[in-house]
Amino acid sequence: ALPNIDASKLTKTLTTAPKELADPKTLTFGKGFTDHMLCIKYTEDGGWEAPEIKPYGPLEIDPAAFVLNYSVEAFEGMKAYRAADGTVNLFRPEMNMKRLSTSSQRLMLPEFDQKQFLQCIKELVALDERFIPAEHGYSLYIRPNFIGTEPNLNLKYSREALLYVYMAPVGPYFPRTVKLLANTADVRAWPGGVGSFKVGGNYAPALRPTMDVIKSGYDQILWLLGDDHYVTEVGTMNFFIFWTTPEGEKELVTAPLDGIILPGVTRDSLLALARGWGEFKVSERKVTMPELVAALAEGRLIEAFGAGTACVVCSVSTVLYEGADYQIPVDPANPDAVYGPLAGRLHRELLDIQYGKTPSPWTVPV
Ligand code: COI
Repeated sequence: ALPNIDASKLTKTLTTAPKELADPKTLTFGKGFTDHMLCIKYTEDGGWEAPEIKPYGPLEIDPAAFVLNYSVEAFEGMKAYRAADGTVNLFRPEMNMKRLSTSSQRLMLPEFDQKQFLQCIKELVALDERFIPAEHGYSLYIRPNFIGTEPNLNLKYSREALLYVYMAPVGPYFPRTVKLLANTADVRAWPGGVGSFKVGGNYAPALRPTMDVIKSGYDQILWLLGDDHYVTEVGTMNFFIFWTTPEGEKELVTAPLDGIILPGVTRDSLLALARGWGEFKVSERKVTMPELVAALAEGRLIEAFGAGTACVVCSVSTVLYEGADYQIPVDPANPDAVYGPLAGRLHRELLDIQYGKTPSPWTVPV
């Protein structure tokens, strides 16, 4: 068998120009990267080469590479968190490894050893550990990228690939509640499509509709699907509704993993936390915009929020739908609240695990 990724063969070339740390309070999402990156090359004839950590910097890529022509690119989003005692943890990183494997195989990228790749990521995080902010709510965002690098325009598959990882210290993505615009014109993902894979090709076509939404004063699109306006997700976040059903039952509901929805790690974690409480029904099922509007009109809608690795948990204050601006309750007891009671509780419990305050098997030390 050809060599797979082998973390014991990792080489390190350290930067000669260490960067100055930014003041965490000035951090925005996804700008300003750490000193080093991890690169692992693959060729069909030779398999996986020895992993390399080297100074962060431009990649050398053939202009005819698959990724540059045909978007053969899958990626991940994960974070490293600094606990109060200074130690550093990842959060459910094996889920990111698995999803990257699933996403990349949809693009005919080669299989890789998930455990060995994770071990290399841990070494990168440990090396650039000084960039991880200590402040609550801040973390180091880790972006694994997997690209097809063979220079070949023939549409079969890329016989060469590069798996690489770089990192950015980050603060809150949306430091407040968000306003969504339910888009009835464009579609993010569709049955038989690739909505459940984390591939760059899902994100580029969302940029224009998203910028149109931002220009009209909203933050993100609430993506709908089909004539019944099935509420799918936000694109940077999965979408959750907490309401009383017409039958009078309290329910937390999010869209099912039906091939349309990105299988978020935060999504899965919030569902598990809420199910663990056992206080109300927790469902993964289809909800339509007319059902959401009816719940609001009948006073049954309690909260809505988004959840994702970058955005964490984010309460929704407004949804514009078919020309009407619907005000979503956040916290009726506190008009300035950034989180609704349920979103806030889930956010707190999640962060307590991520920052090592609550012991959990989800926490993986670096
Ligand atoms: C993440 O939450 O990690 C994502 O990848 C969303 C990103 C497109 C902002």
